Amino acid sequence: KNKECCKCSLCQSRNQIVFYDGNPYSPVVFVGEAPGEEEDKQGKPFVGRAGQLLTRILQKIGWDRKDIYITNICKCRPPNNRTPKPEEIQTCINTFLIKELKIVKPKVICALGATAGKTLLGKNIKITKMRGNFYSSLIYPSAKIFLTFHPSYILRNPSATKIFLEDLKKLKEYVNSISS
Ligand code: URA
Repeated sequence: KNKECCKCSLCQSRNQIVFYDGNPYSPVVFVGEAPGEEEDKQGKPFVGRAGQLLTRILQKIGWDRKDIYITNICKCRPPNNRTPKPEEIQTCINTFLIKELKIVKPKVICALGATAGKTLLGKNIKITKMRGNFYSSLIYPSAKIFLTFHPSYILRNPSATKIFLEDLKKLKEYVNSISS
């Protein structure tokens, strides 16, 4: 069970490491926070309730999730879905995310929620204020970082669905404009 990465303590409670899903040639990479219960069971990111919502909204704007690259800041489920600790994030991005980005070489990275946004921008952010816009990244300077809500937030606040949808449309228009 824990023969693979055990560089942080999340390896003791996880079922399995959850790597990326989708297309490694995608110009856009979606980054969430960490796997939840269902992801930890299935070994695939964004397959639980929040993931299904994301999949549906992407579908709505004409993006099939198998055509884009989806991953998380942390690859292992934190106990009780707590927010990953700074040292878990640092260890995990050095072990996985930074290497993934060097392979995929995305033009844009969509940070889903504050944990991903904070990590990719390298500073504290206010997601409600900063979402819907593009930023520069310290950890991966050759891509733009687009910030939007985490789909779990939309589950808790359905009235933000429209904003989320509009954000993703804006992201898709940008991706289309640079890759055609
Ligand atoms: N939430 C995340 O941030 N990542 C997942 O993979 C699932 C839910």
